[in-house]
Amino acid sequence: MATAQPLILPEAGPFALYVVMNVKGDRHALVEQCQKLHDLVESVNSQQHADLRASVAFGKPFWLTMEKGCPAQFDEFTALGEGAITAPATGGDILLHVNSSRHDLNFYLLRKFMEPVAEELDILDETYGFKYLDARDMTDFIDGTENPKTREARADVALIQDGEFAGGSYVMMQRFVHNLPAWNRLNIQAQEKVIGRTKPDSVELENVPAASHVGRVDIKEEGKGLKIVRHSLPYGTVSGDHGLLFIAYCNTQHNFKAMLESMYGHTDGKTDQLLRFTSAVTGAYFFAPSMEMLQSL
Ligand code: HEM
Ligand code: MG
Repeated sequence: MATAQPLILPEAGPFALYVVMNVKGDRHALVEQCQKLHDLVESVNSQQHADLRASVAFGKPFWLTMEKGCPAQFDEFTALGEGAITAPATGGDILLHVNSSRHDLNFYLLRKFMEPVAEELDILDETYGFKYLDARDMTDFIDGTENPKTREARADVALIQDGEFAGGSYVMMQRFVHNLPAWNRLNIQAQEKVIGRTKPDSVELENVPAASHVGRVDIKEEGKGLKIVRHSLPYGTVSGDHGLLFIAYCNTQHNFKAMLESMYGHTDGKTDQLLRFTSAVTGAYFFAPSMEMLQSL
């Protein structure tokens, strides 16, 4: 099978960088720079111990300009919800996702990546994520318990198995801004009912409320649970925006859509209670081609 981009299968290290950009100038120069990304990563790794890994993915309109055909289920992200519970669609031509054990090298990699092409692009969002406490979201709940763990399981869920796009992966990303004062006014029991798991140790509640987060996203279709590979991390500053940079990889966009529709009230009118305490400010789908396809663009 074709080779997946190196970031996707290993579990996330403690520091990440998520960059969404639009191409305004020479698109060929940018695609070439994307093709050099993994060599750039390897040159840093040969000098530093940082387990630096990256993936690069493309928004649909930009992908279509490369005339490589369109992965079967590659749609653009559309806005969701209504009233106070909404998610915007903010798009983006290129997503650069970097993960390592060192914040400084994530910054360094982006600086090196941009140097020759800075005039060709606009950065829409540049967010630095970090592992928080014992892998908790800023709600102080453990995030990632039900994430596929072994390399094999993650490959099964994240990677397109056959056909011309084999080794590729669909990506979904939303940056959430939390309202922690409101969240922390709830007692622990109430918080647990919002998440659907216990706070100290992430045990699923005996009766998971249907409108809890887990109640919304733990979806079974024909007896099979829908899975995605999450690479999300907390980000931000105490005095400014902070929350979760949600990002996940999957071999089908269907799972993202089913979860989002369930969270935002499109499936049965119920909305995810977690969304009373956090709001998405970005939202986009991307496609991360295999290493071989990336080189062929
Ligand atoms: C589970 C937090 C957004 C999909 C969880 C859990 C937490 C959590 C604490 C339980 C532990 C675990 O299994 O990881 C958050 C926060 C979010 C967020 C704070 C945003 C601010 C999303 C979004 C999706 C999603 C947007 C997908 C569209 C999932 C899935 C699970 C999960 C699939 C595992 C459910 C299971 O199989 O039991 N999330 N999440 N989450 N979340 Fe989220
Ligand atoms: Mg479950």
